[in-house]
Amino acid sequence: MKKSAKRFAKKEIVKMETGAAISRVSIRSMEGLIHLGAGDPDFDQPEFINKAVYEAMKASYTHYAFGGDPEFKAAIAEYYKKYGVDVDPATQVLIESGGSQAIFRAFGAILNSGDEILIMDPAYQGYRRPAAYFGATLTRAKMTKDENGLFRPDMDNIRAAVTDKTKALLICNPDNPCGSVYTQGELEEIAEIAVKKDIVVIADEIYTEYVWGGRKHRPIINLPGMEERTMVLMSFSKTFAWTGCRAGYIIAGPELMKIISAVPIGITGMPVPFQRAGIVALKQGWDFVAKMRRAFKERIEYFVPRLNKIEGVSCPYPEGAFYVFPDISELNCPSMDFSREFFHHEKVRCAPGTQYGPNGEGHIRFALVRPIEELEEVATRLERFIKDLPITAPQAYP
Ligand SMILES: Cc1ncc(COP(=O)(O)O)c(C=O)c1O
Repeated sequence: MKKSAKRFAKKEIVKMETGAAISRVSIRSMEGLIHLGAGDPDFDQPEFINKAVYEAMKASYTHYAFGGDPEFKAAIAEYYKKYGVDVDPATQVLIESGGSQAIFRAFGAILNSGDEILIMDPAYQGYRRPAAYFGATLTRAKMTKDENGLFRPDMDNIRAAVTDKTKALLICNPDNPCGSVYTQGELEEIAEIAVKKDIVVIADEIYTEYVWGGRKHRPIINLPGMEERTMVLMSFSKTFAWTGCRAGYIIAGPELMKIISAVPIGITGMPVPFQRAGIVALKQGWDFVAKMRRAFKERIEYFVPRLNKIEGVSCPYPEGAFYVFPDISELNCPSMDFSREFFHHEKVRCAPGTQYGPNGEGHIRFALVRPIEELEEVATRLERFIKDLPITAPQAYP
């Protein structure tokens, strides 16, 4: 019998969970499928940005740019000022090829084997494998629901979950999958915990541009005592619908940034022509962002009340990001079974709440990345599916 290649693998990789969700590529061809499983905006990046990539190549921006293009870093620092944060582009901005690489580098900078990193429950699933890779343990603080049914960080649970091994506390603000936008009070409490316990805060802020209902995005790095211990993770993926072009960055205090920059993942991963186009996007891309923002808002305003009309479904309005995370616990069906069967029966892809942690049970997540007509169709299919659901006998599923 052939020996498994696993014998060559780093022990953390052997231990890591494997098995990916059905990928975009493999399901693209399925007829009639409505894919609301992944947060990939259905807008194509505008032509003037595409052109900027080519223009940069023609202008010979095709060489090494050690440490990232300084003009791009300056444009990022300028952009982030809109949140009241003034950073030095040379020492406080690090270019990454997307939010995922920013996560990897941030974790790689601080996590030793045996360390704990505290995330919320539910939380974006992309933190799990990088933590495992570095031999760290993910711990979780259960979020609790507010009066609107929206999951929020729970300070008592956070305090209780911090141990002597906790190296960092990770927040996602605005939150994917839950849709909460952290209030000033919540951020202050988190900052107080971090300072008192002397831990790092990793603030995943990649949905910053999508905040609803007159709320404001507030960066935790701005609070007293936080600059020296905060890593802000950002991405162009959602802001400019650049999911395939891989652009992101980290903002941190200069001392922390020296450590983050020391993680040897090679020369800045984002291709130089795209960095140049990033400058154009940050200067001229805001009408495009406003267009996407309007569309996401309309979708939320249509879809949330529509979901709430379906028996057994209860869905709060998200305060930020472009996901909805309805509660289906009344249906008494495990969210994994529900999502799988919904996909098989009705060709709609959503994500089971348990993908984001045990506290996500009884929920499913829809990414509102299709137009309203398709969301109408999803609601119709969901209604039909739920009517036929063996509500009290989920084990009847194959
Ligand atoms: C909260 C959060 N962080 C990070 C990422 C990864 O971002 P990117 O696609 O830029 O790698 C995602 C992607 O969905 C996300 O939702």
